[in-house]
Amino acid sequence: MDATANNGGGQLSRMRDRFPELGSGVLPVEPYISPAYFELEKRHIFKRVWQHVGRESEIPNPGDFFVVDLPASDASLIVVRGHDGVIRALHNVCSHRLNKVVYESRGSVRRLNCKFHGWSYDLTGRLVGVPDEKYFSGLDREQCGMTPASADLWQGFIFVNVDPHPAMSLNDFLRPVYADLEGYPFEKMTNCYRWRTVVNCNWKLALDAFQETYHVRYVHGRSIADALRSDEEGSMLPIDCLCGDVHRRLSMAGNPKTVYGNPKAATTVDKSTAQAGTQRVGKIASAALRAGRGATKLSFNPADLPPGINWRKDPDWVFDINVFFPDFYVSTRPNYYQAYNFRPIAHNRTLFDARVYYPEMKNAGGRFYQEYMKCVLRDVLLEDLGTLEQIQAGCETGPKTHMILHDYEVMVRHNAHVVERLIREGEARAQVGLS
Ligand code: FES
Ligand SMILES: [Fe+2]
Repeated sequence: MDATANNGGGQLSRMRDRFPELGSGVLPVEPYISPAYFELEKRHIFKRVWQHVGRESEIPNPGDFFVVDLPASDASLIVVRGHDGVIRALHNVCSHRLNKVVYESRGSVRRLNCKFHGWSYDLTGRLVGVPDEKYFSGLDREQCGMTPASADLWQGFIFVNVDPHPAMSLNDFLRPVYADLEGYPFEKMTNCYRWRTVVNCNWKLALDAFQETYHVRYVHGRSIADALRSDEEGSMLPIDCLCGDVHRRLSMAGNPKTVYGNPKAATTVDKSTAQAGTQRVGKIASAALRAGRGATKLSFNPADLPPGINWRKDPDWVFDINVFFPDFYVSTRPNYYQAYNFRPIAHNRTLFDARVYYPEMKNAGGRFYQEYMKCVLRDVLLEDLGTLEQIQAGCETGPKTHMILHDYEVMVRHNAHVVERLIREGEARAQVGLS
């Protein structure tokens, strides 16, 4: 391959050489199908790490809460904003006879009241009301609050950790890889669309389908394959990839002649978008782009984006994939972003929880553009999800014990390595009685 062509050979050799610790061998299937392996992931990963659960703006006022189930952490948490404005996470379990304290998935309350016998807690989880209190011998309210977990914020995202005393702060967990994303206008994207579905596959397998582009030409051949830049041989190689201690990032170039692959669409009036719709993207896409051009209420100047966005400064850059270990995927674009969780339920079941955040539009044309983008994304997601249960079945029926990876499926390899390493380290700690 020509080393100077497009984003091809030069990057390819760099990518292959850059992460020698990951090797280039095959990947064992066992971690994707083994209930025992999943138990190790629960113990050494999901009960110890920070996990994304939503945006701060979902609970803007004191008393606003939502409940998040984290099966891989054996937890269901109430995430609630207190009267002091602080967001906390509390296990949704009453101290009396362990009923769920709130049954609703979200709402707003002055207190957290258990519906079984009426115990009540303030928004910090302190026990403040006990019917018939005199009939409990030696009840110490101070000792009978709701059990806290940890909660913290990064750029408006709420993260929780079921460990009330995490080994690492959220900042120490994220900033080594993601400090240069700080300042991205997450808070400007206030129109949120959300889809949730349970997929019968392992969480790593689901995430893996979103952290490589090798599949795009085939799985998305009839939808958005046009939107990514490809070299003269048709390969859709990313601009660059970064693999950190646990997190990883991938930067992608688009095809500016398509609506979906043009980062300037609907934010700037630009001649480069004028030809959109003359390619295979079709009339509706073209109409959507025309309707949406310049229709955002806010301006997004690419020059204002933080240095971690399009870190290679490629002129055709269209989005970056940021995987926050273990299961949070954020695709950052100049004017909107996608935020997905691949939340494990069992070794072969995963909740796919997808949110997309757009800026508010100031007219109907802008909304039409957004609806178009939303429908394209829905179809693309269905194409992605369509492969997952087949792959899980392929893994479980057992003719193969290993997978073979392309050099640019490096993020798939990295995820498997990180999980394996954390389990190994966790088991070593457990052997000397440290966890
Ligand atoms: S279980 Fe909650 S008040 Fe009894
Ligand atoms: Fe895909």
